[in-house]
Amino acid sequence: MTTAFPHRHLLGIEGLSAADLALILDEAEPWVDFNRGARKADDRLAGLTQINAFFENSTRTMFSFEIAGKRLGAQVSGFHPAASSVRKGESLIDTALTLNAMGPDLLVIRHEANGAAADVAAVMDCPVINAGDGRGEHPTQALLDALAIRRRFGRIEGLRIVICGDIAHSRVANSNLRSLPLLGAEVRVAGPAALLPPSLPAGIEATTDFDAALDGTDVVMMLRIQRERLEDGVADALGDYHARYGLTRDRLARAAPHAAVMHPGPMNRGVEIVGDVADDRERSLILDQVELGVAVRMACLDLLTRERRG
Ligand code: CP
Repeated sequence: MTTAFPHRHLLGIEGLSAADLALILDEAEPWVDFNRGARKADDRLAGLTQINAFFENSTRTMFSFEIAGKRLGAQVSGFHPAASSVRKGESLIDTALTLNAMGPDLLVIRHEANGAAADVAAVMDCPVINAGDGRGEHPTQALLDALAIRRRFGRIEGLRIVICGDIAHSRVANSNLRSLPLLGAEVRVAGPAALLPPSLPAGIEATTDFDAALDGTDVVMMLRIQRERLEDGVADALGDYHARYGLTRDRLARAAPHAAVMHPGPMNRGVEIVGDVADDRERSLILDQVELGVAVRMACLDLLTRERRG
């Protein structure tokens, strides 16, 4: 028997319950083994049209949504803004209305504007998945992060997790700061004052002292500085970021001996993390995160189309 997902779209972690998150993670689990098999073909989305519209660059998210849709049998079409009438000045909403008129069954969208996915969802007749909107949310990243943590530790509840870096401009942080506490983790953020947001969800501690925040932590999640979203002058004012916030082998020794290292990618090696730590497959979950992203996105595509598949 299949379970219904009680939401039409996946626009953010905001608005989801712990049960919703657990359902997606549970549904993703079987796809992990499926994706490790020799033949990766399911037909539950056969006859459905999935459009992936990425207005911002992406490697992990764009390709994993494409692979996820194809493994489930969907007809997957990529909308490429640079080769579209967006270049002639067509607005986002007119673009969405145009795509909607072609009858898609799912739209996956990444856009540089906060709230773009929600604006588009308001005019679409099909489910919309937010693949990252400006500084807003990146819900499937938070879900795959949660799955990676749950598979490593067997649980999320009670774990101590530090997220370090450009918290203020990160949609990955925004989504994880909602999902991880909901799943029972104790979450702290660390970074330079200029990269910490003016307010945080209740219960999240912030510090500029990364070394202190690391003490005894179970999971260290490093973030990229979002240079494309920084206000003028902020990047220059960061000084020697690596000296205070770069994750090195020495710094990692402050965390619990079993601590796992995460990064959503793309990484700036030698800035927020050194290659030696990023490439340590005993400690680093970075490539596991990428792998699990396909399974999580398959679960999301499946759940969001169940109603229309009947
Ligand atoms: N983590 C992430 O969103 O990576 P991409 O920008 O490559 O999709």
